[in-house]
Amino acid sequence: MSRFYVTTPIYYVNDEPHIGHAYTTVLADVLARFHRALGDKTYFLTGTDEHGQKVQQAAEKRGVDPQQHVDEYVLRFQEKWDALDIRYDQFIRTTQANHKAVVRHLLQLLWDKGLIYKDTYEGWYSVAEERFLTDKEYEEGDWRDVKQLSETNYWFKMSAYQEKLINYIHDNPDFIQPEFRKNEVLGFLRQELGDLCISRPKSRLSWGIELPFDSEYVTYVWFDALTNYISAIGYPDRDEEFKTWWPADVHLIGKDILTTHAVYWPTMLMAADLPLPKTIFAHGWWLMGDTKMSKSLGNVIRPLDLANEYGVDALRYFLMREMTPGQDASFSIEAFIGRYNSDLANDLGNLVNRITKLLGRNFDSILPDPGETSPEDADLIQHVNGLQERVRDELDQLKVNYAITHVFDVLREINRYLEETAPWKLLKTDKDRAGAVLYNAAEALRLSAVHLYPVMPDKIARLLEVMGTSAKARFGEPGWFEWGHVKSGTTLGQIDGLFPRIEVKEAPEETSVKLDLKPEISFDDFTKLDIRIVKIIKAEKHPNADKLLKLQVDLGAEQRQVIAGIADFYAPEDLVGKSVSIIANLKPAKIRGEISQGMILAAEDDVTVAPLTPLKDVKPGSKVR
Ligand code: ME8
Ligand code: MG
Repeated sequence: MSRFYVTTPIYYVNDEPHIGHAYTTVLADVLARFHRALGDKTYFLTGTDEHGQKVQQAAEKRGVDPQQHVDEYVLRFQEKWDALDIRYDQFIRTTQANHKAVVRHLLQLLWDKGLIYKDTYEGWYSVAEERFLTDKEYEEGDWRDVKQLSETNYWFKMSAYQEKLINYIHDNPDFIQPEFRKNEVLGFLRQELGDLCISRPKSRLSWGIELPFDSEYVTYVWFDALTNYISAIGYPDRDEEFKTWWPADVHLIGKDILTTHAVYWPTMLMAADLPLPKTIFAHGWWLMGDTKMSKSLGNVIRPLDLANEYGVDALRYFLMREMTPGQDASFSIEAFIGRYNSDLANDLGNLVNRITKLLGRNFDSILPDPGETSPEDADLIQHVNGLQERVRDELDQLKVNYAITHVFDVLREINRYLEETAPWKLLKTDKDRAGAVLYNAAEALRLSAVHLYPVMPDKIARLLEVMGTSAKARFGEPGWFEWGHVKSGTTLGQIDGLFPRIEVKEAPEETSVKLDLKPEISFDDFTKLDIRIVKIIKAEKHPNADKLLKLQVDLGAEQRQVIAGIADFYAPEDLVGKSVSIIANLKPAKIRGEISQGMILAAEDDVTVAPLTPLKDVKPGSKVR
């Protein structure tokens, strides 16, 4: 038995979780579930990064206290992770008292060791990134929100560790993965490494952890955030717990935060005389077309929209199967549906149906006797028995997509075995042999499915029950990974529509250019519509209808109530403060008992509904023409 400690980045609490965040988190969950199933002592940490200027500003804008703001916003992550079946061991928040105490401890430690000093610095400061830029960065980058700033701050002597870090990276080839990211970090370290500014004066930023040695300052968010990986597991007070988990086996991150993890964090650990994480793994982007999915670009896919429509497990499967960790991957609904239909509905779903139906019709779903092992049986058994090692090898390198491929290879192997042995024919000539073949096929299917459980915990748990594994002791029970674990005589179940095929509606924009337009109208007809921009000031669930939201909107001169059918797509709290457009002169109507004075304009496609918002801030009540 070994030990496995995996982390995700702690996400900015202000952000709306999208497919990119979901990817890292599902990846960590899959790795953790696999290690747990193997019997490894496992710890999975995720959480939120809750200090800093952006949080302070967002709270100010909403007119609430920052702590209240983060307490509300953190739920968006926690609820989404619950819905996506993420089973973390801890969700850490940087505003937690114990985390703050550990950050202060670490700062004090470095201060006492003379590794932190006070100095004045003048240079270009990026408000968006909340840090000073080097001259080179300033010249080469395309910075939006930068200003000259002169400020006295506290600095961590990061430069003192440059040589040591370079040597460490050379001596530990697994430390930064994939390989090309390691080279990127080494390239970065060829320039002189500066010291790290680890404070912000309270005059500029108050929402942070106060420095233990100067109450006029708070801690720089990255120094605060990175420390979560050790504060969560007992550093420095709960030494036994800490030593159980640290050093982490893998920090999973996106490539955007490579430098902070592969340079800042290791030097902080070196300064504190702590061992470095075994692996920092930087994965690529989920792209929409060619561009990164990000909130600021407004092209995000919300994980729950897909999960609601096609199932949580289908989404988890797609994310894990479609991205080669390390490289970028493109998201499209066509690819999603294609994957689902070919792998889950066809390869897996059809095999399940075939085996359970034959057993149901001919053996009352009681698993028959395997009898003597023929050479073709032995081939199949050998293939299945090697699966665990093949999967484990891939997962040790974080290649979940290849691990999945190995499972599907075996599923195809089982199909081939059935074609060759043709139990449906044997039933008439040699029922015992037909039974033996079906035993082998069923057990091979069960044992393959076990390897998919970490990716699709809900569906596969149901499948494993059908295949004769007891529901109670399903996961990680002894023998789970062994051939012959489910014995003949066991009653199997039936399962219908584990992964029903997604029928693709003909995509109108691709198959034809016909737009299906309404009859032409005159300009006068158009001017009869009074479209206005309104600001949503309050949003709540409609008392009598799940799909409806009740909105109070500001039109400048007056306020109104509007009912909108968008509850499946937006949480009420996500809408408050947003500007949208309404038809303001539509005759008021009662909708399920509530008055609606106008109608929200929204675009709609197969996936979501998107209310129309102005590109720039305009006053509530502004006319739209
Ligand atoms: O950087 N594709 O938080 P963050 C793939 N708080 N992954 C993506 C992605 C995309 N398009 N967009 C985001 C922070 N991610 C800091 C971290 S850790 C001590 C502090 C994922 O909310 C990916 O894991 O900006 C990326 O690294 C992370 O979200 C950034 O999250
Ligand atoms: Mg980010």
